[in-house]
Amino acid sequence: MSEAVLDKLDSLLDEAKSKITKAQDEKELEEVRHQILGKKGELTALLRNLGSIPQDKRPAVGKKANEIKLQIEQVLDDRLQKLSQSSLEIRLQNERIDYSLPGESLPSGRLHPISEVLREVKDIFRGMGFEVARGPEIETDYYNFEALNIPPDHPAREMWDSLYLDEKTLLRTHTSPVQIRVMEKRKPPLRVISAGKCYRRDAVDATHCFQFHQVEGFMVDEEVSFADLKGVLSTFARLVFGQDRQVKFVPSYFPFTEPSVEVYIDCFNCAQSSTGKCSLCGGEKWIEVLGAGMIHPFVLRVVDYPAHYSGFAFGVGIERIALLKYGINDIRLFYENDERFLRQF
Ligand code: PHE
Repeated sequence: MSEAVLDKLDSLLDEAKSKITKAQDEKELEEVRHQILGKKGELTALLRNLGSIPQDKRPAVGKKANEIKLQIEQVLDDRLQKLSQSSLEIRLQNERIDYSLPGESLPSGRLHPISEVLREVKDIFRGMGFEVARGPEIETDYYNFEALNIPPDHPAREMWDSLYLDEKTLLRTHTSPVQIRVMEKRKPPLRVISAGKCYRRDAVDATHCFQFHQVEGFMVDEEVSFADLKGVLSTFARLVFGQDRQVKFVPSYFPFTEPSVEVYIDCFNCAQSSTGKCSLCGGEKWIEVLGAGMIHPFVLRVVDYPAHYSGFAFGVGIERIALLKYGINDIRLFYENDERFLRQF
Protein backbone atom coordinates (compact mmCIF):
# COMPACT_ATOMS: atom_id res chain seq x y z
CA MET A 1 0.00 0.00 0.00
CA SER A 2 2.64 2.51 1.02
CA GLU A 3 4.81 1.44 -1.95
CA ALA A 4 2.02 2.36 -4.29
CA VAL A 5 1.65 5.77 -2.68
CA LEU A 6 5.37 6.42 -2.95
CA ASP A 7 5.28 5.52 -6.65
CA LYS A 8 2.33 7.78 -7.14
CA LEU A 9 4.19 10.61 -5.50
CA ASP A 10 7.10 10.12 -7.90
CA SER A 11 4.90 10.09 -10.94
CA LEU A 12 3.04 13.12 -9.62
CA LEU A 13 6.33 14.96 -9.47
CA ASP A 14 7.18 14.00 -13.05
CA GLU A 15 3.76 14.98 -14.28
CA ALA A 16 3.92 18.26 -12.40
CA LYS A 17 7.30 19.05 -13.88
CA SER A 18 6.12 18.47 -17.41
CA LYS A 19 2.93 20.51 -16.90
CA ILE A 20 4.94 23.32 -15.39
CA THR A 21 7.37 23.48 -18.28
CA LYS A 22 4.48 23.47 -20.72
CA ALA A 23 2.81 26.46 -19.08
CA GLN A 24 3.34 29.36 -21.45
CA ASP A 25 2.38 32.30 -19.29
CA GLU A 26 1.76 33.25 -15.71
CA LYS A 27 -1.93 32.52 -15.96
CA GLU A 28 -1.43 28.96 -17.23
CA LEU A 29 1.17 28.37 -14.53
CA GLU A 30 -1.25 29.51 -11.87
CA GLU A 31 -3.78 26.95 -13.15
CA VAL A 32 -1.18 24.20 -12.88
CA ARG A 33 -0.38 25.24 -9.32
CA HIS A 34 -4.06 25.06 -8.52
CA GLN A 35 -4.43 21.63 -10.11
CA ILE A 36 -1.66 20.16 -7.99
CA LEU A 37 -1.38 22.13 -4.78
CA GLY A 38 -4.84 23.66 -4.55
CA LYS A 39 -7.50 22.55 -2.03
CA LYS A 40 -8.79 19.99 -4.49
CA GLY A 41 -5.36 19.43 -6.06
CA GLU A 42 -3.79 16.06 -6.80
CA LEU A 43 -1.10 16.23 -4.14
CA THR A 44 -3.55 17.49 -1.57
CA ALA A 45 -5.81 14.53 -2.32
CA LEU A 46 -2.91 12.11 -1.89
CA LEU A 47 -1.96 13.60 1.46
CA ARG A 48 -5.52 13.43 2.61
CA ASN A 49 -5.39 9.67 2.15
CA LEU A 50 -2.35 9.31 4.41
CA GLY A 51 -4.70 7.88 7.05
CA SER A 52 -5.14 4.72 5.06
CA ILE A 53 -1.46 3.89 5.27
CA PRO A 54 -0.17 1.64 8.07
CA GLN A 55 0.96 3.65 11.06
CA ASP A 56 4.67 2.67 10.86
CA LYS A 57 4.98 3.72 7.22
CA ARG A 58 3.31 7.02 7.64
CA PRO A 59 6.37 9.10 8.64
CA ALA A 60 8.34 7.94 5.60
CA VAL A 61 5.47 8.63 3.22
CA GLY A 62 4.72 11.97 4.91
CA LYS A 63 8.35 13.02 4.62
CA LYS A 64 8.47 12.05 0.97
CA ALA A 65 5.22 13.87 0.28
CA ASN A 66 6.58 17.03 1.86
CA GLU A 67 9.79 16.82 -0.16
CA ILE A 68 7.79 16.42 -3.32
CA LYS A 69 5.62 19.40 -2.40
CA LEU A 70 8.67 21.51 -1.78
CA GLN A 71 10.19 20.39 -5.06
CA ILE A 72 7.03 21.18 -6.96
CA GLU A 73 6.86 24.59 -5.32
CA GLN A 74 10.47 25.21 -6.23
CA VAL A 75 9.88 24.26 -9.88
CA LEU A 76 6.75 26.42 -9.97
CA ASP A 77 8.68 29.40 -8.60
CA ASP A 78 11.53 28.93 -11.05
CA ARG A 79 9.11 28.74 -13.94
CA LEU A 80 7.22 31.75 -12.69
CA GLN A 81 10.37 33.78 -12.54
CA LYS A 82 11.31 32.72 -16.05
CA LEU A 83 7.88 33.49 -17.44
CA SER A 84 7.66 36.93 -15.85
CA GLN A 85 11.18 37.66 -16.98
CA SER A 86 10.31 36.83 -20.57
CA SER A 87 6.98 38.65 -20.48
CA LEU A 88 8.87 41.71 -19.31
CA GLU A 89 11.30 41.23 -22.17
CA ILE A 90 8.44 40.95 -24.63
CA ARG A 91 6.90 44.15 -23.28
CA LEU A 92 10.22 45.94 -23.42
CA GLN A 93 10.63 44.74 -26.96
CA ASN A 94 7.17 45.79 -28.10
CA GLU A 95 6.94 49.02 -26.22
CA ARG A 96 10.37 50.23 -27.11
CA ILE A 97 10.48 53.90 -27.98
CA ASP A 98 12.73 55.02 -30.77
CA TYR A 99 13.88 58.39 -29.60
CA SER A 100 15.55 59.10 -32.90
CA LEU A 101 12.24 59.16 -34.83
CA PRO A 102 11.16 62.65 -35.84
CA GLY A 103 8.27 63.95 -33.69
CA GLU A 104 4.82 64.66 -34.96
CA SER A 105 4.67 68.37 -35.58
CA LEU A 106 1.45 70.16 -34.74
CA PRO A 107 0.34 72.80 -37.23
CA SER A 108 0.94 76.18 -35.65
CA GLY A 109 -1.40 79.12 -36.09
CA ARG A 110 -0.34 82.62 -36.93
CA LEU A 111 -1.67 86.13 -36.83
CA HIS A 112 -4.38 87.06 -39.30
CA PRO A 113 -3.05 89.54 -41.90
CA ILE A 114 -5.42 92.18 -40.52
CA SER A 115 -4.05 91.71 -36.99
CA GLU A 116 -0.57 91.84 -38.44
CA VAL A 117 -1.18 95.18 -40.17
CA LEU A 118 -3.04 96.56 -37.14
CA ARG A 119 -0.04 95.81 -34.97
CA GLU A 120 2.34 97.33 -37.46
CA VAL A 121 0.30 100.53 -37.76
CA LYS A 122 -0.04 100.84 -33.98
CA ASP A 123 3.68 100.26 -33.51
CA ILE A 124 4.54 102.99 -36.00
CA PHE A 125 2.40 105.57 -34.21
CA ARG A 126 3.56 104.44 -30.78
CA GLY A 127 7.04 105.07 -32.09
CA MET A 128 6.01 108.66 -32.78
CA GLY A 129 4.73 109.13 -29.25
CA PHE A 130 1.06 108.29 -29.73
CA GLU A 131 -0.75 106.40 -27.00
CA VAL A 132 -3.54 103.91 -27.66
CA ALA A 133 -7.13 104.54 -26.49
CA ARG A 134 -10.27 102.45 -26.82
CA GLY A 135 -13.88 103.27 -27.58
CA PRO A 136 -17.16 101.36 -27.84
CA GLU A 137 -18.35 99.72 -31.06
CA ILE A 138 -21.94 100.53 -30.16
CA GLU A 139 -21.95 104.32 -30.32
CA THR A 140 -24.44 107.09 -29.80
CA ASP A 141 -25.60 109.34 -32.57
CA TYR A 142 -24.01 112.18 -30.64
CA TYR A 143 -20.44 110.83 -30.67
CA ASN A 144 -20.63 109.20 -34.07
CA PHE A 145 -22.16 112.24 -35.82
CA GLU A 146 -23.27 115.34 -33.97
CA ALA A 147 -20.13 116.07 -31.98
CA LEU A 148 -18.21 115.57 -35.22
CA ASN A 149 -20.11 118.37 -36.93
CA ILE A 150 -22.55 116.08 -38.73
CA PRO A 151 -26.04 117.24 -37.65
CA PRO A 152 -29.07 115.00 -38.39
CA ASP A 153 -29.89 116.51 -41.78
CA HIS A 154 -26.27 116.81 -42.97
CA PRO A 155 -25.71 115.26 -46.41
CA ALA A 156 -22.45 113.73 -45.17
CA ARG A 157 -24.51 111.21 -43.20
CA GLU A 158 -25.05 109.53 -46.53
CA MET A 159 -21.33 108.77 -46.64
CA TRP A 160 -21.64 106.80 -43.40
CA ASP A 161 -24.90 105.07 -44.21
CA SER A 162 -25.40 103.37 -40.92
CA LEU A 163 -26.59 100.36 -38.95
CA TYR A 164 -28.86 101.68 -36.21
CA LEU A 165 -29.84 99.72 -33.11
CA ASP A 166 -32.47 102.31 -32.19
CA GLU A 167 -33.10 106.04 -32.86
CA LYS A 168 -30.01 107.18 -30.96
CA THR A 169 -27.54 104.27 -31.05
CA LEU A 170 -25.75 102.63 -33.93
CA LEU A 171 -22.74 100.50 -34.76
CA ARG A 172 -20.02 103.10 -35.13
CA THR A 173 -19.26 103.96 -38.73
CA HIS A 174 -15.74 105.16 -38.01
CA THR A 175 -13.32 105.42 -35.09
CA SER A 176 -13.53 109.24 -35.03
CA PRO A 177 -15.96 109.24 -32.04
CA VAL A 178 -13.02 108.12 -29.88
CA GLN A 179 -11.47 111.54 -30.55
CA ILE A 180 -14.41 113.19 -28.83
CA ARG A 181 -14.50 110.69 -25.97
CA VAL A 182 -10.80 111.21 -25.21
CA MET A 183 -10.84 115.01 -25.61
CA GLU A 184 -13.91 115.32 -23.34
CA LYS A 185 -11.99 113.69 -20.52
CA ARG A 186 -8.49 115.07 -21.01
CA LYS A 187 -6.66 118.29 -21.73
CA PRO A 188 -3.96 118.83 -24.39
CA PRO A 189 -1.23 118.09 -25.21
CA LEU A 190 -2.61 114.85 -26.64
CA ARG A 191 -1.27 112.33 -29.11
CA VAL A 192 -3.68 109.42 -29.30
CA ILE A 193 -4.62 106.61 -31.68
CA SER A 194 -7.52 104.21 -31.44
CA ALA A 195 -7.97 101.01 -33.41
CA GLY A 196 -11.03 98.90 -33.92
CA LYS A 197 -13.96 97.64 -35.92
CA CYS A 198 -16.34 99.91 -37.78
CA TYR A 199 -19.60 99.12 -39.52
CA ARG A 200 -21.35 100.54 -42.56
CA ARG A 201 -24.41 99.57 -44.51
CA ASP A 202 -22.28 98.72 -47.51
CA ALA A 203 -23.03 95.98 -50.02
CA VAL A 204 -20.19 93.46 -49.99
CA ASP A 205 -17.92 93.45 -53.01
CA ALA A 206 -14.20 93.19 -53.77
CA THR A 207 -13.43 96.51 -52.04
CA HIS A 208 -16.29 96.93 -49.54
CA CYS A 209 -17.57 95.12 -46.52
CA PHE A 210 -20.15 95.99 -43.85
CA GLN A 211 -17.44 95.54 -41.25
CA PHE A 212 -13.84 96.71 -41.39
CA HIS A 213 -11.01 98.01 -39.22
CA GLN A 214 -9.80 101.54 -38.80
CA VAL A 215 -7.06 103.30 -36.90
CA GLU A 216 -7.98 106.81 -35.86
CA GLY A 217 -5.33 109.20 -34.67
CA PHE A 218 -5.14 112.77 -33.56
CA MET A 219 -2.78 115.25 -32.04
CA VAL A 220 -3.77 118.43 -30.20
CA ASP A 221 -1.52 121.05 -28.66
CA GLU A 222 -0.67 124.71 -28.93
CA GLU A 223 0.63 125.49 -32.41
CA VAL A 224 -0.03 122.13 -34.06
CA SER A 225 -0.02 122.92 -37.77
CA PHE A 226 -0.59 121.31 -41.14
CA ALA A 227 3.19 120.81 -41.30
CA ASP A 228 2.91 118.43 -38.32
CA LEU A 229 0.17 116.52 -40.12
CA LYS A 230 2.35 116.23 -43.21
CA GLY A 231 5.37 115.15 -41.22
CA VAL A 232 3.61 112.48 -39.19
CA LEU A 233 1.61 111.02 -42.08
CA SER A 234 4.49 111.05 -44.58
CA THR A 235 6.61 109.21 -42.03
CA PHE A 236 3.82 106.71 -41.53
CA ALA A 237 3.28 106.14 -45.27
CA ARG A 238 7.01 105.62 -45.86
CA LEU A 239 7.39 103.23 -42.93
CA VAL A 240 4.57 101.09 -44.30
CA PHE A 241 5.23 101.31 -48.04
CA GLY A 242 8.93 102.05 -48.32
CA GLN A 243 11.31 104.91 -47.58
CA ASP A 244 11.46 106.14 -51.18
CA ARG A 245 7.68 106.64 -51.52
CA GLN A 246 6.50 110.02 -52.67
CA VAL A 247 3.56 111.31 -50.63
CA LYS A 248 0.99 113.84 -51.79
CA PHE A 249 -1.84 115.59 -50.00
CA VAL A 250 -4.97 116.20 -52.05
CA PRO A 251 -7.81 118.48 -50.87
CA SER A 252 -10.86 116.57 -49.70
CA TYR A 253 -13.83 116.98 -47.41
CA PHE A 254 -14.75 115.68 -43.97
CA PRO A 255 -17.21 117.61 -41.76
CA PHE A 256 -14.90 117.31 -38.73
CA THR A 257 -11.67 118.53 -40.32
CA GLU A 258 -10.84 121.76 -42.10
CA PRO A 259 -8.90 121.74 -44.32
CA SER A 260 -9.34 118.06 -45.13
CA VAL A 261 -7.03 115.92 -47.26
CA GLU A 262 -6.63 112.53 -48.78
CA VAL A 263 -3.11 111.17 -48.53
CA TYR A 264 -1.68 109.44 -51.58
CA ILE A 265 1.54 107.57 -52.24
CA ASP A 266 3.09 107.06 -55.64
CA CYS A 267 2.33 103.58 -56.93
CA PHE A 268 5.03 101.08 -56.01
CA ASN A 269 3.72 98.53 -58.48
CA CYS A 270 3.88 100.51 -61.75
CA ALA A 271 7.55 99.69 -62.34
CA GLN A 272 6.79 95.95 -62.23
CA SER A 273 3.80 96.05 -64.56
CA SER A 274 4.73 95.23 -68.13
CA THR A 275 1.38 95.94 -69.73
CA GLY A 276 1.60 99.68 -69.22
CA LYS A 277 -1.61 99.72 -67.21
CA CYS A 278 -0.69 98.87 -63.61
CA SER A 279 -3.11 96.51 -61.90
CA LEU A 280 -2.70 98.22 -58.54
CA CYS A 281 -3.32 101.87 -59.38
CA GLY A 282 -5.12 101.29 -62.66
CA GLY A 283 -2.62 103.56 -64.40
CA GLU A 284 -3.32 106.47 -62.04
CA LYS A 285 0.27 106.36 -60.68
CA TRP A 286 -1.04 107.39 -57.23
CA ILE A 287 -2.76 105.34 -54.54
CA GLU A 288 -4.96 106.77 -51.80
CA VAL A 289 -3.97 105.48 -48.38
CA LEU A 290 -5.89 107.51 -45.79
CA GLY A 291 -8.04 110.55 -44.94
CA ALA A 292 -6.96 113.37 -42.64
CA GLY A 293 -7.24 117.04 -41.83
CA MET A 294 -6.90 119.82 -39.25
CA ILE A 295 -9.49 119.26 -36.52
CA HIS A 296 -12.48 121.53 -37.22
CA PRO A 297 -12.90 124.44 -34.73
CA PHE A 298 -16.47 123.18 -34.18
CA VAL A 299 -15.11 119.92 -32.75
CA LEU A 300 -12.62 121.69 -30.47
CA ARG A 301 -15.47 123.89 -29.21
CA VAL A 302 -17.66 120.85 -28.54
CA VAL A 303 -15.08 119.61 -26.05
CA ASP A 304 -14.53 123.12 -24.60
CA TYR A 305 -10.91 123.49 -25.62
CA PRO A 306 -9.62 127.09 -25.48
CA ALA A 307 -9.13 128.71 -28.89
CA HIS A 308 -5.31 128.66 -28.82
CA TYR A 309 -5.32 124.86 -29.24
CA SER A 310 -5.23 123.25 -32.63
CA GLY A 311 -4.75 119.75 -33.92
CA PHE A 312 -4.89 117.29 -36.75
CA ALA A 313 -6.68 113.98 -37.14
CA PHE A 314 -6.52 111.04 -39.52
CA GLY A 315 -8.26 107.76 -40.21
CA VAL A 316 -6.52 104.73 -41.72
CA GLY A 317 -8.46 101.83 -43.20
CA ILE A 318 -6.59 98.71 -42.15
CA GLU A 319 -8.06 96.43 -44.82
CA ARG A 320 -7.03 98.97 -47.43
CA ILE A 321 -3.45 99.00 -46.19
CA ALA A 322 -3.41 95.19 -46.06
CA LEU A 323 -4.80 94.87 -49.61
CA LEU A 324 -2.12 97.20 -50.93
CA LYS A 325 0.72 95.81 -48.87
CA TYR A 326 0.12 92.17 -49.77
CA GLY A 327 -1.18 92.77 -53.30
CA ILE A 328 -4.58 91.21 -52.58
CA ASN A 329 -7.42 92.07 -54.92
CA ASP A 330 -10.47 91.05 -52.90
CA ILE A 331 -11.32 92.21 -49.38
CA ARG A 332 -13.63 89.22 -48.87
CA LEU A 333 -10.60 86.92 -48.64
CA PHE A 334 -9.85 88.43 -45.22
CA TYR A 335 -13.11 87.19 -43.74
CA GLU A 336 -13.52 83.75 -45.28
CA ASN A 337 -10.96 82.08 -43.02
CA ASP A 338 -9.74 79.88 -45.82
CA GLU A 339 -6.52 78.43 -44.49
CA ARG A 340 -4.99 78.21 -47.94
CA PHE A 341 -5.20 82.00 -48.05
CA LEU A 342 -4.26 82.71 -44.45
CA ARG A 343 -1.24 80.39 -44.43
CA GLN A 344 0.51 82.60 -46.97
CA PHE A 345 1.24 85.41 -44.55
N1 PHE B 1 -13.47 109.11 -40.07
C1 PHE B 1 -13.11 109.24 -41.46
C2 PHE B 1 -13.69 108.08 -42.25
O1 PHE B 1 -14.10 107.10 -41.68
C3 PHE B 1 -11.62 109.26 -41.63
C4 PHE B 1 -11.00 110.48 -41.05
C5 PHE B 1 -10.60 110.50 -39.73
C6 PHE B 1 -10.81 111.63 -41.82
C7 PHE B 1 -10.03 111.64 -39.17
C8 PHE B 1 -10.25 112.76 -41.26
C9 PHE B 1 -9.85 112.75 -39.96
O2 PHE B 1 -13.77 108.13 -43.45
